[in-house]
Amino acid sequence: MLESGSNTLTIVVVGASGDLARRKIFPALFALYCQGLLPVELTIMGFARSAMTDESFRESITEHLTCRYTPEERSCAEKMDAFLACCHYVSGQYGSTDAFLDLFMRMQEHEPHSRTNRLFYLAIPPSVFMDVARALGDAGFVYCDDSSPWSRVVVEKPFGHDRSSSDQLVEELSHVFAERQIFRIDHYLGKEVIQNLMVLRFANRIFEPLWSREHIQSVQISWAEPIGIEGRGGYFDQYGIVRDVMQNHLLQMVSLVAMEPPASTSSAAIRQEKVRLLETVAAVGIEDLVLGQYTAAPAGAPPAPGYTEDESVPDDSLASTYAAVLLHINNPRWEGVPFLLRAGKGLDRKSTEIRILFRETEANVFSGVSGHAEPNELIIRVQPNEAIMFRITSKVPGLEMDLETRDLDLEYKTAFSELIPDAYEDLILDVIQGERSLFISSGELAAAWDVFTPVLDTVDSNHIRPLPYPFGSTGPSAAMDLAIRADTVWR
Ligand SMILES: NC(=O)c1ccc[n+]([C@@H]2O[C@H](COP(=O)([O-])OP(=O)(O)OC[C@H]3O[C@@H](n4cnc5c(N)ncnc54)[C@H](OP(=O)(O)O)[C@@H]3O)[C@@H](O)[C@H]2O)c1
Repeated sequence: MLESGSNTLTIVVVGASGDLARRKIFPALFALYCQGLLPVELTIMGFARSAMTDESFRESITEHLTCRYTPEERSCAEKMDAFLACCHYVSGQYGSTDAFLDLFMRMQEHEPHSRTNRLFYLAIPPSVFMDVARALGDAGFVYCDDSSPWSRVVVEKPFGHDRSSSDQLVEELSHVFAERQIFRIDHYLGKEVIQNLMVLRFANRIFEPLWSREHIQSVQISWAEPIGIEGRGGYFDQYGIVRDVMQNHLLQMVSLVAMEPPASTSSAAIRQEKVRLLETVAAVGIEDLVLGQYTAAPAGAPPAPGYTEDESVPDDSLASTYAAVLLHINNPRWEGVPFLLRAGKGLDRKSTEIRILFRETEANVFSGVSGHAEPNELIIRVQPNEAIMFRITSKVPGLEMDLETRDLDLEYKTAFSELIPDAYEDLILDVIQGERSLFISSGELAAAWDVFTPVLDTVDSNHIRPLPYPFGSTGPSAAMDLAIRADTVWR
């Protein structure tokens, strides 16, 4: 065997029978493979408890592979066959060193070099996460450094349940992997529009002078899903929407919107500014939090059961499926600017967007002119249909002087001819290339938990009951009051 490890890669997907692996990880790996972005000497090992042969495993992952990057039928079929030939499967228990030694033996049958770069993707529930990390370490899988050849581990959210469980996880994982070997994924950071946020802010001269309390009235970030829990309550019910969506995805968006310009685009500089920003976000007070839980759809609407009617959810569950939060950022740039966040399942739409609402124009010479003009607004639509829009006041064409609010619209689908990669493609490629800026550092993680842990403790210890809202609605009306208290309205 050769001793080189530079251009050979083994990817071990732990939890390979699961939803994330089949829907996201293997399709992303195939997309990278089709674009020639994975090393030629590639081995992919799936590992989980389910009994499968290599053949049945390959069948299980084929369903979600797409030919986006190789549209011709013949070349796609050839690529798919070649990709699947790199994929192998071993079944075993997650905490068993013997099972991982077995995996190691099988890996060696396929690896062309004795010292190959190794990427471990932990696509498993948090309950078995540390068992797997320890077993990987005990089986001698992990090179102790990030130099050549390297070992890296990808960890999925949730990273803990609160500040102390997160610290414990960070500590325990550090016995197996050094911090620079750990890639904590928040897949929102891999989304194109989110990656564009820093470019928008720092590569366009017009925004930076306006980006402060002087010109911005409020910032709103909303995440809405029209579906309910649909039998997947096991995990969600223990976490609720604040831990599942707000503490990670939404707070990451806040940090990119509100952070100071980094000294460079290096991952260290970006992460440093994100931590600094998160450390200036005040811990959420109970008076600034509205929690909700969806009930059955009202009569006349398409039928949908309430959250606690789902068979995977306990009848007396107090888990929140909706949350609205008013955040305060205590620094000179943002003092007094409300950051309103809301996230919910079972709502009236599918949408994730960031809205930056600017202040009214002072002494507007057009104030007596007819027509309705609203303050400027920058809208960053993450999904569906990625777009960046800037809402301006415009004269309506015609002989009269009528004003109207219109959008300057950068809709990705029409503005760019390039394919928009799935977030997981970008993120997995970054792991392979050792690029860390789109991953969560332990410092960010701790600061993000500090924002929510005190209020979550209050909610849990007082058994606070979330407010009911009908499936398919906009959420509890108390969220409207929260916005009014912040002197704004939800957009
Ligand atoms: N699905 C998504 O879109 C998504 C998005 C963001 C983050 N995540 C995170 O990614 C991880 C994996 O998500 P997933 O949706 O793929 O999870 P999943 O389908 O529930 O679980 C993945 C695999 O883990 C094993 N497993 C499930 N429950 C287990 C248990 N209680 N004890 C031991 N093993 C168990 C199962 O494999 P075997 O029974 O074959 O061992 C299953 O196929 C989770 O941490 C999740 O929070 C998922």
